[in-house]
Amino acid sequence: MQKVTIVGAGNVGATAAQRLVEKNLCDVVLLDIVEGLPQGKALDIAHSAHVLGVTSRITGTNDYADTAGSDIVIITSGAARKPGMTRDQLTGINVNIVSQVVAGAAQASPSAVILMVTNPVDAMTWLAIKKSGFEPHRVIGLSGVLDSSRLAYLISRELKVPVTDVTTWVLGEHGQEMVVIPRLNSVRGVPITKMLPDNVIATLVERTVGSGAEVVSFLKTGSAYYAPSAAVIRMAEAVLKDSHEILPCAAYIDGQYGLKDVCLGVPVRLGRQGIEGIIELDLTPAELKRMAKSARAVKQLIKQASAG
Ligand code: 2OP
Repeated sequence: MQKVTIVGAGNVGATAAQRLVEKNLCDVVLLDIVEGLPQGKALDIAHSAHVLGVTSRITGTNDYADTAGSDIVIITSGAARKPGMTRDQLTGINVNIVSQVVAGAAQASPSAVILMVTNPVDAMTWLAIKKSGFEPHRVIGLSGVLDSSRLAYLISRELKVPVTDVTTWVLGEHGQEMVVIPRLNSVRGVPITKMLPDNVIATLVERTVGSGAEVVSFLKTGSAYYAPSAAVIRMAEAVLKDSHEILPCAAYIDGQYGLKDVCLGVPVRLGRQGIEGIIELDLTPAELKRMAKSARAVKQLIKQASAG
């Protein structure tokens, strides 16, 4: 059995652990600094295995030694947004948490693929590369799989088509500078630009960018976790199964799209080694400019993270 560690037993971490155990693909270790929290949640999930007919084992711990030799480490630790906050405002508080967690996890599992969830995720992915010393292809951020799923939901509602018929690509920053290129989004291969007027597309895009905040504004005490956990487990599954799937993820960019030394959402091919390649779509000069603007926003946060 492969082994996946999930760091952070809050809503995203615990729900991700539940989803992963239910897939019956690997053993799961749930780690948190709060004593009892990961143990209690892991035991509860373990008690469901018989009912569900799965043989994956899950344990909870406060000790990185128990995470040793993990194939994947999913990092969810950190503060979440409160109503009215942007993801960027979490940088200061989450830099220290991510730095410590990455150091502990990377030492225990030097061959792992790290999947970063903590926000602001693009900057935290960059930080995790620096703190782990891992090759950049082994550190991947959750962004586009989640944002694309939210856009697909909105398109399916607007056009009254099954959500599974929709293909979406949300690129760039997982934040206000998200990049949605309408012509790349389609329903069974038919671009949405053929089916929806520009003003409707603009509304759907705007709502996608604000989807995380929309959930926060309802919950008031925390941020989204059902869709984020589903999205990161989709990425974990691609790595565990060595599926070579192409998914939009936050990746370290070294020259692609005319950008350098930044982590940003781009289509990547995922497999057992992490990112097997970054797909460079043919973008127009105007679209490339939007990617560059998005990269500038992330670089600002990276600057803040490096100073912190
Ligand atoms: C979201 O968009 C957690 O950033 C995440 O909901």
